[in-house]
Amino acid sequence: MNYRHSFHAGNAGDVLKHLALAFIIDRLKAKPAPITVIDSHAGAGLYALDTGGGEWQDGIGRLLGQEVSTWPAAARPYAEALGGDPMLYPGSPLIALRLLRDQDRLIACETGEEVAEDLRFALAHDPRAAVHRRDGWSALRAFLPIKTGRSLVLIDPPFEAANDFALLAEHMIQAARRASTAIIVGWYPVKGRQAADRLHEVLRSSGIAKILAVELLTQPDHDPLRFAGSGLVVIRPPWHFDTAMAEDLPRLLTLMGQAHTGSVRVDWLSGETVEAE
Ligand SMILES: C[S@@+](CC[C@H](N)C(=O)[O-])C[C@H]1O[C@@H](n2cnc3c(N)ncnc32)[C@H](O)[C@@H]1O
Repeated sequence: MNYRHSFHAGNAGDVLKHLALAFIIDRLKAKPAPITVIDSHAGAGLYALDTGGGEWQDGIGRLLGQEVSTWPAAARPYAEALGGDPMLYPGSPLIALRLLRDQDRLIACETGEEVAEDLRFALAHDPRAAVHRRDGWSALRAFLPIKTGRSLVLIDPPFEAANDFALLAEHMIQAARRASTAIIVGWYPVKGRQAADRLHEVLRSSGIAKILAVELLTQPDHDPLRFAGSGLVVIRPPWHFDTAMAEDLPRLLTLMGQAHTGSVRVDWLSGETVEAE
């Protein structure tokens, strides 16, 4: 596998993922309890947009020209985490670290040797962050549950392997069972409905309570050969995450000039029911 996230950095999928990540961290910071963020597939942490694949132009590029004061409220923590240089786009571990406080921790896993080295550099060897060059799937078993405070897990595999949807569902379910209060976020691409609907179905029938699906599509999703956008499945999202996404993602899509072809979906896959073992 030679996936390089630099090709995709800052695209519309990153905008959804990073906006949600920043929003959730911001919500968790309302309480003093320490936060541990586990990023199982962390990437390089910082991307020079002008040397990447150009996908950013239809993602963050559509927002950079707009005053942050015009961005919807749910996107403000994301704006805060982007940093000063618009052409240096932060990946998920750097976004998390920029928002975390002194008492919080980041555990970032990445298998790529050079990518992990780039990540260590991007995180500037911050003592709050630990970069592990290791498999992120098994890391979820190794690190969860975190004993103190709140934990937030981001699972963002490259989706190069045919079984990444199945692995995502399986590991989200296992992680949710191991860590009964953790917030668990999984990202997935939307190319036609089949794989996304199947992922939703597996999670829906897991017996785990409070699972939300959020999709930000820039194109119609009926063509299985065309990338339509991306989605997040979120186990135990914080209070009002659903309403914030339902209200503000359509505004974001309008700001990005993609409302005519795109759409937003926010659906509860399971409610407040007691979890069945
Ligand atoms: C989609 S990118 C991550 C992007 C990053 N989360 C972000 O939002 O900025 C996926 C990353 O996972 C890495 N990777 C692939 N297989 C992995 C595995 N089994 N465990 C950990 N990392 C893996 C790839 O090298 C790649 O850098």
